[in-house]
Amino acid sequence: MEWAKLHSRARFNLASSGLAAFPLAELGARIEDLEINADGAYGYPPLLERLARKAGVEADRVVHAIGTSMANFLVLAAAADPGDEVLIEEPTYSLLVDAARWLRLDVRRFPRRAEDGFRLDPREVEKAVTPRTRLVVLTNLHNPSSAFAPPEDLRAVGEAARGVGARVLVDEVYLESLAVLGRASGSAAHLGPEFVVTSSLTKAYGLSGLRCGWAVADPALAHRMWRLNDLFGVNAAHPAERLSVLALDRLPRIAARARRILETNADGANAFLAARPDLACSPVDGGMIAFPRLLRGDVESLCRRLRERHETTVVPGRFFGAPGHFRLALGCLPETLEGGLERLARALDEAD
Ligand SMILES: Cc1ncc(COP(=O)(O)O)c(C=O)c1O
Repeated sequence: MEWAKLHSRARFNLASSGLAAFPLAELGARIEDLEINADGAYGYPPLLERLARKAGVEADRVVHAIGTSMANFLVLAAAADPGDEVLIEEPTYSLLVDAARWLRLDVRRFPRRAEDGFRLDPREVEKAVTPRTRLVVLTNLHNPSSAFAPPEDLRAVGEAARGVGARVLVDEVYLESLAVLGRASGSAAHLGPEFVVTSSLTKAYGLSGLRCGWAVADPALAHRMWRLNDLFGVNAAHPAERLSVLALDRLPRIAARARRILETNADGANAFLAARPDLACSPVDGGMIAFPRLLRGDVESLCRRLRERHETTVVPGRFFGAPGHFRLALGCLPETLEGGLERLARALDEAD
């Protein structure tokens, strides 16, 4: 995260994973829509109601949190105690691992293999769970590869977890991009009581600054998360809650803009990837990030060349524990992607 905050900025930033920022001026907010303070206890009811409707669950299963980041942290902290085993996919979004380690959980990993397109293989989870496992953690769509885990594979993971009394945390922040593209995405929240899901409006809609995240859990775990959140922020910034309500009411319009960007960029990225014999990568299919493997040369020097000579950044795969890959983000404006891919081609063509 420190690298992302301090070193990913560039004229052609293909490192930042969220959609190009949605401007406040286009949200149609009036000053009378906003207020500084509210009576809130555990969540702002109009926001909880909308989040529950969006997730298709009762409001007592929803916890509003400061981004998917805090939602993930609250789930890890509420569902496991220090010393408990958590089983986390590898590669993954590294902050999931960092948060679990910081909570003194005993982190074990199960593989998602590059040669398998990073597919979620439930047999790997079945092999790795033990009676000490309290939580299985994965991302859908997968960060960094965007691989989609279908409900039948998630159900099999759920069964393996249930067999040892564990839960499954599915971080669905990138699943929102399928919703944006109008494709049925099927949240794991409906697959059984052992599933806990987290998500936010940050990535797929360009609304990162609202920090509107949430978790969907069984009511008892949700209650524990709300209580735990009292240790951190107590309440969210109320103007952001109000703006989140407006954003959720206008989500189809916000999603239409996101869809135009993602569709254009997927075409551009797929044409680029298909034309590069030095990269191995599944075509982009609904996701907003791709994770090519570099077949010739060294990823670190490619990233350095790109930044120093070509004003372009991508994320080195070492941040995901996969140093032969790099992550390419597709949520930027199409002209940024086009310029960045041209420069990436030049950097790839330059010898190491
Ligand atoms: C898988 C995953 N989860 C959570 C986050 C953080 O999301 P948010 O901005 O909603 O806190 C990221 C950010 O890159 C991510 O990739």
